[in-house]
Amino acid sequence: MTEEIIIPDKQLAKKEKYELLIPQIEALVEGEDDLIANVANMVAVLKEGLNFLWIGVYFVKENRKGEKELVLGPFQGPVACTRIKFGKGVCGASWEQKKVIIVPDVDAFPGHIACSSLSKSEIVLPVFKNNEVAIVLDVDSERLSNFDETDEKYLQKIVQMMEEMLKSI
Ligand code: SME
Repeated sequence: MTEEIIIPDKQLAKKEKYELLIPQIEALVEGEDDLIANVANMVAVLKEGLNFLWIGVYFVKENRKGEKELVLGPFQGPVACTRIKFGKGVCGASWEQKKVIIVPDVDAFPGHIACSSLSKSEIVLPVFKNNEVAIVLDVDSERLSNFDETDEKYLQKIVQMMEEMLKSI
């Protein structure tokens, strides 16, 4: 496991930032199979390296009534809502639709759940285990239209790493 992360220069384009960070994230989680520990470090590197407002995951879990809902997992950034129901907000919509959702302006997304009033745009990516969503990766930005296909492409690599880890659980 690497313990020191080289944070890309702020001036670099985000593609370059992701390309510097992703191999370091791979090295960071190599040889460790604890999902929570790995996800905690993965989101810490991405938060520091890409200056997001918030990045974290929600796990699909059963509540006491036996209903599945999203429950907050490791994250970096302001305090976030703990539970999200199926289909609710951007995270619940990504879970329901089983697809990546990019929201350029959160105020224009019906049902968006505002955990922080500073959040202006968002991307949510589903993480699958046995063709079902097991986790959603959520990233928020203080800037409008911050996320595009570059973020989707590189964040999918993070998703794939999580999917690999889920295989052994
Ligand atoms: N905005 C999300 C809720 C989670 S927070 O952004 C951390 C949503 O609408 O699902």
